[in-house]
Amino acid sequence: MSQEEKKVLIEARNLVKKYGEGEALMYALNDVSMKVYEHDFLVILGGSGSGKSTFLNMIGAIDKVDSGEIIVNGRDICKLKDSGLTLYRRNEIGFVYQFFNLINDVTVYQNVTLAPGSRNKERALSLLDRVGLLEKKDKFPRQLSGGQQQRVAIARALNKDSEILLCDEPTGALDDTSGKAVLKLLEEIHEEGKTIVLVTHTREIAQMANRVVTMKNGMVVSDVINEHIVKAEEVEW
Ligand SMILES: Nc1ncnc2c1ncn2[C@@H]1O[C@H](COP(=O)(O)OP(=O)(O)OP(=O)(O)O)[C@@H](O)[C@H]1O
Ligand SMILES: [Mg+2]
Repeated sequence: MSQEEKKVLIEARNLVKKYGEGEALMYALNDVSMKVYEHDFLVILGGSGSGKSTFLNMIGAIDKVDSGEIIVNGRDICKLKDSGLTLYRRNEIGFVYQFFNLINDVTVYQNVTLAPGSRNKERALSLLDRVGLLEKKDKFPRQLSGGQQQRVAIARALNKDSEILLCDEPTGALDDTSGKAVLKLLEEIHEEGKTIVLVTHTREIAQMANRVVTMKNGMVVSDVINEHIVKAEEVEW
């Protein structure tokens, strides 16, 4: 199926996000438009400060745009009120962060079950099994390695039925081996039907994507289909 025939899940139109005033005014996003298609494994690539996290936080409704539209399921999420935004974040989007963002004073199992929008408890156990951490379910996040914590964060994100998973440098804080385990997991999740938007400054990771958008200075500078998708197993960085 060609890209144009696929359903558009997210359409960002002319997003602008500014910080500072006067001399210090800068555009974190300077007229960014982008479509996320159903079943994309979309990698957003760009150097530090190019606007990648800002963009992801806008489409994840973690932060607000100054202007522009973000159409998801037929409505502009920028126009939602707080209650609507909460429901959107809870039900329509899964988020995986560079530094995991687990709740430190509850167990691994509770991290997966207590998240807003999470499904039932049995499913949490099967997800922990799936990410290879069932035996760690009663541990606290600090008792786990970074790679293990990130896999808990992925289990948490999967314990809701969002069509879309947003990942901000999910391997950024991990060594190569645990980074690769996380990429393999994301690859599997994608093969099962999830749409993934992954932000990274690591060019090699973009080889896994079916589509690569490059950002620079708050702008999209290229948006290309990747014809030679590389398996997570073979990605080296
Ligand atoms: N809360 C903020 N206040 C002021 N400036 C900000 C804020 N958040 C981001 N910026 C600026 O916006 C620009 C884009 O930041 P962003 O975090 O989106 O970059 P990034 O591409 O994710 O970079 P990195 O790879 O380092 O994570 C940067 O110049 C940054 O300094
Ligand atoms: Mg960032």
